[in-house]
Amino acid sequence: MLEKNNSNVTVCNHPLIKALVTEIRDKKTEGKRFRRLVKELARHIVYEALSDIPLKEVEFETPLAKTRGFTFMCEQFILAPILRAGLSMIDGALETLPGAEIRHIGLYRDEATLEPVEYYIKLPESIPEETYVLLMDPMLATGGSATIAVDTFKKRGVKKIKFLCLISSIQGINALSEAHPDIQIYTAAIDPILNELGYIVPGLGDAGDRSFGT
Ligand code: PRP
Ligand code: URA
Repeated sequence: MLEKNNSNVTVCNHPLIKALVTEIRDKKTEGKRFRRLVKELARHIVYEALSDIPLKEVEFETPLAKTRGFTFMCEQFILAPILRAGLSMIDGALETLPGAEIRHIGLYRDEATLEPVEYYIKLPESIPEETYVLLMDPMLATGGSATIAVDTFKKRGVKKIKFLCLISSIQGINALSEAHPDIQIYTAAIDPILNELGYIVPGLGDAGDRSFGT
């Protein structure tokens, strides 16, 4: 069961997203089509995650007149894919936020303990506080990888972090929310079971293997 105070979770349940999620879960969906679906879903989820981003008013000129409009208050977005599978979300995310910086977080899950292991993190010691970080990983399973990834950015001074995924388990959402109650989670679906091997059920299988054909 989801713990009661889960106001930090947004399930992106637009009909288009539901249809794309159904297709991506199907074991018959392979290679090129799987990657295309991850890209599409990432584009939509980033769009959803930006829905409460503060704006500031600006004055500018159209070819006909002076007028007023809006631009993002914050100047810098970081898209942070958790390797490997998160990489597959980057192309779609960049279509929505083409000016974002990309910072990779290299983590893998130890198959026996399911604990995340760091293998590539090269970030500046400090990151301007006003930066928005959108962490991306298709799967939120035990929540261990997401929790470490959030810690990594918080240690560098980042305050505004959102976690974007395609499929999450109830357990993963509860674990990440408990470790970091201030983080907004965006997911296209929440599944009921995390099996003994740490796989989300029904899920979609191994996201990295399906994206990269390994
Ligand atoms: C998968 C997935 C997440 C992690 C989720 O990665 O992409 O990063 O597992 O599990 P957790 O919530 O239990 O930490 P994996 O370790 O299989 O690496 P990969 O992306 O390189 O395949
Ligand atoms: N990682 C995956 O790729 N799939 C799962 O179901 C859980 C973790």
